[in-house]
Amino acid sequence: MQSQTITNPSEPLIPGVSPQVYSASDFQSVAQLVRQKAGIVLSEGKKMLVYSRLAPLLRKHQCATFRDYLELINVDAELSTRTIAALTTNHTYFNRESHHYDHFASEVRPNLLAAASKGDPVRIWSAGCSSGQEVWTLMMVLLGEQKQTGRKIAGQNIVALASDLADHAVKAGIRASYETEDMKAVPEVLRRNWCREEGRATEVGPELRTLVRFRQLNLLGQWPIRNLFDVIFCRNVMIYFDHETKEELVWRLANQLKPGGHLYIGHSERVSGRASALLDLIGPTIYRRRD
Ligand SMILES: C[S@@+](CC[C@H](N)C(=O)[O-])C[C@H]1O[C@@H](n2cnc3c(N)ncnc32)[C@H](O)[C@@H]1O
Repeated sequence: MQSQTITNPSEPLIPGVSPQVYSASDFQSVAQLVRQKAGIVLSEGKKMLVYSRLAPLLRKHQCATFRDYLELINVDAELSTRTIAALTTNHTYFNRESHHYDHFASEVRPNLLAAASKGDPVRIWSAGCSSGQEVWTLMMVLLGEQKQTGRKIAGQNIVALASDLADHAVKAGIRASYETEDMKAVPEVLRRNWCREEGRATEVGPELRTLVRFRQLNLLGQWPIRNLFDVIFCRNVMIYFDHETKEELVWRLANQLKPGGHLYIGHSERVSGRASALLDLIGPTIYRRRD
């Protein structure tokens, strides 16, 4: 929960910035908006971060004060979404929490490939995908080390949804061009098969691209998704949410899984509440939906 502090309104909230421009109550209004719309809790320690992330938006929209800007986003839903996106933490990297990919490769992939080879649809979701490193790693593991086999797999009825609230992150995922150095966390054979290295940049190749659909989606809102998923990765997203929001999200994710489907969450996250009745813990932060 957010702590309540008593701040002298005539004191600057951060050094060098007039309280006429950015006040404690402005910070509280931003924190309330972000919590209400995206579930993200901004602690008092984030005052400086809010200022530095939103100041460029104030300048762009010619607002002299945070008060003016808050009035503007009150009547501009698109700008409000962009403001929330600016306050998200998009830190991610290739092959993060590699034990999840190892588990996927050995325990889940064989069943998915068996289903796909019979023509059954295979559906995967990277929920809170940030700039795509998670879903691209997963797709490289799915296509695997044999190029011929991987190409056949890419032609089957397999679709991965990669969604994030932050539009700038989704765009980076679609661009799918990364520093070669950053991709080195992925085993070389997978990079060689499924990506194109061009000096300091490496691009995700066409076989991977055909598998993934990127979407801007707020996990707290409606999910315009008809199908159930075989696999959901929702990692390091809930850490920013309050307890009730986490429990509600994990409940919705559990209901979006096929029976026997797998949910992977971040290393510091846990399933609790009513979703516990649907999910069995089968490995470190790996859950399986009961049949
Ligand atoms: C720290 S990144 C994690 C990325 C990736 N899953 C990983 O583990 O490396 C968290 C992502 O969750 C997204 N996010 C936060 N709140 C969200 C919400 N309410 N709906 C959708 N995405 C959200 C952020 O925009 C951010 O890109």
